[in-house]
Amino acid sequence: MTRALTLTASILSLDPSRMKDEVADVADAIDAVQLDIMDGRFVENSTYGVEIVASVDTPLPLDVHLMVVDPEHWIRGFIDAGARHVTFHAEAVPTRADQERLVAAIRARGCTAGIAINPTTPFDAVLTDVDIVLCMTVWPGKGGQTFIPDVLHKVRAIRMARPDLSIQVDGGVNEQTAKECIAAGADNLVIGSALFKALDRSALLTSIRRAAS
Ligand code: DX5
Repeated sequence: MTRALTLTASILSLDPSRMKDEVADVADAIDAVQLDIMDGRFVENSTYGVEIVASVDTPLPLDVHLMVVDPEHWIRGFIDAGARHVTFHAEAVPTRADQERLVAAIRARGCTAGIAINPTTPFDAVLTDVDIVLCMTVWPGKGGQTFIPDVLHKVRAIRMARPDLSIQVDGGVNEQTAKECIAAGADNLVIGSALFKALDRSALLTSIRRAAS
């Protein structure tokens, strides 16, 4: 089954004062916007609270990536603010029962649920029925890092085991690594600094979409 490619723009690298305009600039060529929420405990950095939703002010679907030790604390607020997809980290919710409970809580609000795994976390850490597995291709905590190619082996293994499952990748995704991720079976690419630093943003996204066609 060939899954349609989703291109998700990460706003992490953007100047907060220009966030709304920058997102609007690429809105016609992307499918969703990812909000990277960091609590300063799961990762060293802290980023935004729920107020970021109003700052971005976009009609595009919002994908919230919770890099936090207690995702349950954050889920309701972001869904109430308009998030359509929420991803939490398996490393923050290690038991299958708790993962299932959080996935059910997200879905009960009409949203899709994702579980993220860090570069060295094996896929079998995510045995839960979930809508998306996010394979981090950098260590979470900041944008503009270098892509970790070893994660592609995990993406291939997940695609083989779960042809039905959406696989998202996030971190160091650029024109070249995007094509490698697509070839490995990823169908949802999070692109931050490579997109907003591109000389021609539309051409970059068109080139990546062409790789999936
Ligand atoms: C890491 C973040 C980044 C961001 C995208 O915690 O999750 O991966 O979304 O970063 P770049 O700039 O590498 O696309």
